[in-house]
Order: sequence, then structure tokens, then C-alpha cells
Amino acid sequence: MNDKFDAWNTLKKDLHNTKKTMHIKQGEIYFMSVGQNIGYETYGKNELFLRPVLVFKKLSKYSFIGIPLTSKVKEGSYFFTFEYKKDKKSTAILSQMKSFDSKRIAYRSGHITKSDFENIKEKVASLFEITPERGGFTLLEEQRNKEYIIAHKNQFANKSNKNILLTGTAGFIGSNFVPYFLDKYPDYNLVNLDLLTYAGNLDNLTECENNPRYKFIKGDICNRELVEFIFNEYDINGVIHFAAESHVDNSIKNPGVFIETNVNGTFTLLDVAYKHWMDKPFKYKERFTGTATSVVASDTRPRFHHISTDEVYGTLNETDLFTEETPYAPNSPYSASKASSDMIVRSYQETYGLNTVITNCSNNYGPKQHDEKLIPTIIRKALAGEAIPIYGDGKNIRDWLYVLDHCKGIDLVYHTGKEANVYNIGGRNERTNLQIVDAICTILDEKVPLNSEPGIHSGLNSYKDLITFVEDRAGHDRRYAIDATKLETELGWKADENFDSGIVKTIEWYLKKYNKGTN
Ligand SMILES: NC(=O)c1ccc[n+]([C@@H]2O[C@H](COP(=O)([O-])OP(=O)(O)OC[C@H]3O[C@@H](n4cnc5c(N)ncnc54)[C@H](O)[C@@H]3O)[C@@H](O)[C@H]2O)c1
Repeated sequence: MNDKFDAWNTLKKDLHNTKKTMHIKQGEIYFMSVGQNIGYETYGKNELFLRPVLVFKKLSKYSFIGIPLTSKVKEGSYFFTFEYKKDKKSTAILSQMKSFDSKRIAYRSGHITKSDFENIKEKVASLFEITPERGGFTLLEEQRNKEYIIAHKNQFANKSNKNILLTGTAGFIGSNFVPYFLDKYPDYNLVNLDLLTYAGNLDNLTECENNPRYKFIKGDICNRELVEFIFNEYDINGVIHFAAESHVDNSIKNPGVFIETNVNGTFTLLDVAYKHWMDKPFKYKERFTGTATSVVASDTRPRFHHISTDEVYGTLNETDLFTEETPYAPNSPYSASKASSDMIVRSYQETYGLNTVITNCSNNYGPKQHDEKLIPTIIRKALAGEAIPIYGDGKNIRDWLYVLDHCKGIDLVYHTGKEANVYNIGGRNERTNLQIVDAICTILDEKVPLNSEPGIHSGLNSYKDLITFVEDRAGHDRRYAIDATKLETELGWKADENFDSGIVKTIEWYLKKYNKGTN
């Protein structure tokens, strides 16, 4: 235990120093302490952990008022935390709150009752504009969600259907998966839990929103109370977990949120699933695992399918392929957070016998991907006549898979994959980034000839003229390539699209999105 405390003491110092150079911004998340300097807190004798706080009001360079994202610390006890500098402005704002017991709402922290907490939140909400962003799930919103769930749960077309919780399906892959899955399995009810971060977009799911077998819930996978509520109310008996922070560049700038969502979020889902299906000393346990004399067949036990990435394996030389046995060697905060989540999934299988499968997939491309990613960026920049940025020498290799082929792989593994197994999914379509940009520009030259946009494209002979090399990404892995033999031979999966067919479909989708006619 001493080691742990020593480590924390060092971290505490570091965090304390960080605070001095911190630029606090509204809407961002910081780690706060209770009763201590920024960065750490202690509960009980041996437990130490960080607590994220959403900043909703910036008072000065070093001070803010924020809402803790993990408000419930232990049964019946809530914390309200804010930190401020005793300057005129912050004192004026806080004085408006003086109807509350200032001792209990200490400057930095306070141990307050649930009803005080709710009062304070209400008061704060009336004083400041709170824009719930990532994790800014206010009690009110949570309550509204619960009411919505209660009001709608019985409206599932068929209550005896299988009820599957999907997470993060307002994102790229999930929003391709949902329509495919709803269509293929008319006896499934799907609940989509998504926080709608910048990466989530409900416009990608308009075709499903009126489907009586589909429900959307806005919320955080890290919000244990909400996840438990959903499991209970919808009687969830399967999980396919897509939700993640997924953009490597963002993970370099802001790794904390990757750890929170990808590691803690996955842990929360696993733990709730395990407790709900296997550990509750009443009907669920019996129903999902059997009694001492009867065991539920493993293929009918509820399954937790974790969607992961080939980036957990690190980088490759020129010839090798990633197999399911390749040791993990993640290089970016994104891949490290995904690798960690894979390990936690594994531990729930090994320790508690939760029925899990993991799929590690290569780079996806296709419709509905966020504008920030490589292929949409190339198309968008080309059409706008802007420089198309390519990292380093452009020779980094990725193995590209059309998104619907990934969805079909997930479907297959979820239904027929062997428990406790990992399956790699990859298209055997290795391309350098330069080859990708080259292929896209060639197709664009044909579909949207340059002379149709004389203003912004003047002087160009090809969209390729816009290619611009920019400084390489830190920790940029050189090559990824998947060996999907296990999935192909054991489960009979095969990609339907090759890169040449998939990229044309993809470009056509983006041309429609950006309102450009095709030839
Ligand atoms: N895109 C790829 O090429 C690729 C390849 C292999 C694996 N993956 C994995 O597939 C999954 C989906 O990837 P994607 O490209 O669709 O990602 P995405 O970034 O497009 O979508 C992520 C979704 O998760 C939601 N989300 C984020 N944090 C959340 C939280 N705390 N609670 C609830 N929802 C939250 C977002 O709102 C968004 O809708 C991820 O787990 C990713 O690691 C992606």
C-alpha cells in the first residue's frame, strides 16, 4: 500500500504543478480533488482516485465552477465540487448562492446530502447556462431519460424479443450496423446508448428512428446508474459495445477522455452486465446461468461483444500480419486505451465467466464517417480546392475494410463466435496513405471534373495537385495488416467489397452529402 501512496504523492505534486499552467476552458473536463489540491482524492483508507469535473463556468485563468461527472460517491452521499479564486468576479457569483450553507458547500468541496445536491444543481442551473457536453449528464436530463425509458419500454413491438444493448451507434460503424442488424433480425429489439459526443450524429440513423424495435437513449456509458437502469428496464440480454473515443489525433491532444470512455466506460458496462446476468442472487442468475443442478447452455447465455481495433497490436514490419496471437504493443493513447479495455473484457471472461467475444478490426471506410477522418477529409478538401494534408512521407500502410463488411463480421462473431475468443477482421486491402489519396483523386477527376469548379480549382490539372505533405503524427505506426484467417476458416466470413468497389460507393455517398453531382 505504501508504494501506492508514494506513487500518488508524486502524481499529486505533478498535478499540483500542472494546475499552475492550466488554461481552463468551459465545456472541458478536469480532474478535481475533494478537500485537497487539484488532482486527487481519498476515500476510505486505501482508495484513491481521480474525479472528472465538467467546467461550466470559467472565472479566471485558474478557477472555475464545475459539476462532478461522477456525483454519486457512495450511497446517499453526493459531492458538489468547485474551485475558484477569491477574486471579485467569482465572489460575486458565489454570493448569489449564499442561501446555501457555505460551510457545507465548502469552497473546494463539500460532503452534502442528496437533497442539498439537487437544490444546488437547480440553483446553479438557474444562475449559469449549463451546456451538458461529454459527461455533462445533469440529474434532470437523467430523470427525463428514465421517464422516457419507462414510458416507451413497453412499446417494443414484441416484448419476448431478444433485447440487445448497443453502445455508440450514432457513430460511424454503429450507424451502419443498426439498419443492417434491424433488417436482418426482425425478432430483435435494439437499445442504442450514445452520449452524442462530437462524433455521434443522429442524422445517420434517421432511417431507424421510427422503427418500433429501436430505441435511442442519450447517455454516458460511464454513468453506472443509467446503465444499470437500462439493463433492468429493458431486460437487456446481449451487448455489442461500439462506444469509444476513436480519433488517434484527439488522443494525442487530450488522452484523458480516452481513458475515461474507453477504459472506465467499458469497465462499467462489463461490470453491470456481469452483475445483472450472473451475480444477482435472484431470478437473473438462475435464468442466465442456471442453478446448481441445471446449467444454461453456453450458446444461449447472454453475450458481451467488445468492438476493438488492430491498433492494439502496434506497428508491423513490411511482411508480417497481425494474428490473434500477436502480442499487444499499443503506441498511441487511443490504442493503449483500447488495449486496456480488451484486457478488462478478458478478465471478466477469465475471472467471472462472463460470455465475451472481442473483434479487432482494421481501418474502416464507407458512408457516415466523421469528417475528421482520413477519407472524408481527402474528399472534402479536394472538393473545396484546399490542400489535402498527408502525414510524413505518406507511406504509412493501413489495411482498409468497407464498413458493411465489418458489420457482417460483427454479426457473425456475435452469433457464432466461440466464447472467450478474439477474432481479427481485416480486408486484405493494404494501401499506403498516398495510394488512398491517389485513388480518391483519380475517381474525383472523373466524377467531378475540375473545370466544373473553375473558381476554387483554377490552375489545377488534377485533384492530386492539392496533395500536401505535413509533419508526421507523433507515434505514427508504420504498417497495420490483419490476418483474418481465423474468422474466414472458422466462421466462413469473407469481405464482399474489395477496395476498388468500396471506395467508389464511399465517394458517391460523400458526393451526395456534399451536394456534388456525379458523372
Ligand atoms: N473506425 C475505424 O476504422 C475502426 C476500426 C477498428 C475498430 N474501431 C472501433 O469501433 C468502434 C466504433 O468506431 P467508430 O469509428 O464508429 O467511432 P466514432 O467515433 O465514429 O463513434 C463513436 C460513438 O461513440 C459515442 N460515444 C463516445 N463516448 C461515449 C460515451 N462516453 N458514452 C456513450 N457513447 C459515447 C459517440 O457519441 C459516437 O456516436 C470503436 O470502439 C472503435 O475503437 C473503429
